[in-house]
Amino acid sequence: MRLLKRIIFALYSRISNLIRNGYLRSIDFKIQTSISVYYRIIGYWEKMNRVDFYSKMTLEDLGLNAEEARHYGGSRSYELAKVVKRLNLPSDSSVLDFGCGKGAALYAFSKFPFKGICGIELSDIAYEIAVENVKNLSLEKRIQVILGDARSLKKELDSFNVFYFYNPFPPDVMKTVVQNVIDSLKNKNRDGYLIYNYPIDSVVIENFNQIKFMFQYVPFFFGGAIKVYKYNKV
Ligand SMILES: C[S@@+](CC[C@H](N)C(=O)[O-])C[C@H]1O[C@@H](n2cnc3c(N)ncnc32)[C@H](O)[C@@H]1O
Repeated sequence: MRLLKRIIFALYSRISNLIRNGYLRSIDFKIQTSISVYYRIIGYWEKMNRVDFYSKMTLEDLGLNAEEARHYGGSRSYELAKVVKRLNLPSDSSVLDFGCGKGAALYAFSKFPFKGICGIELSDIAYEIAVENVKNLSLEKRIQVILGDARSLKKELDSFNVFYFYNPFPPDVMKTVVQNVIDSLKNKNRDGYLIYNYPIDSVVIENFNQIKFMFQYVPFFFGGAIKVYKYNKV
């Protein structure tokens, strides 16, 4: 109840300040305000649950470099929920997040009845935080986090049929990982789904002719697109 009061008070003061300053006339300010209110609410929730999913991490924070990786930002769960619902996945599906960072997407996936949920993360700093987050949410039985390079997973991919990427690495690394995914889907003949959030290198996936584009989700208010692809078993 106290939390709700604080949220309403924060919203009220924010909006009345904006009206007083005449900012509400500007669409851009409306969007910026919504984003900051959204993250303010998330911030309260994170504090209450002693987790940290959404504070950004630069490459320096991650201890990585631009040739091998991209910085950390957490997936927004409501966007992933839209995509997962629309996919109508088989009931025995398992999902793997390539570059899971602190685990925001893993947490979003835990709201769905996946048989397995796993993330691999290259940065030991982000990995430690992900492990702590999973523990504090008592999700150890549902979510597995691995420390390592996404390129190193080969046979391990056989237990998954949904592969998630939130703009984790540069095109060269992406190409190797997608090739490993296709090899696994081919070897253990099964359907596979690739979900690519903020798809700035989607051409890498589209260059593999075994993979077909299914649909694109574009958030109504703010955020980048999410593209979904499918590999059909033979
Ligand atoms: C944009 S964040 C995505 C976080 C998470 N997937 C989510 O959606 O909430 C990208 C993450 O990929 C990780 N990463 C980059 N290269 C990697 C690699 N080769 N293997 C595993 N993780 C990697 C980065 O350290 C970073 O935490």
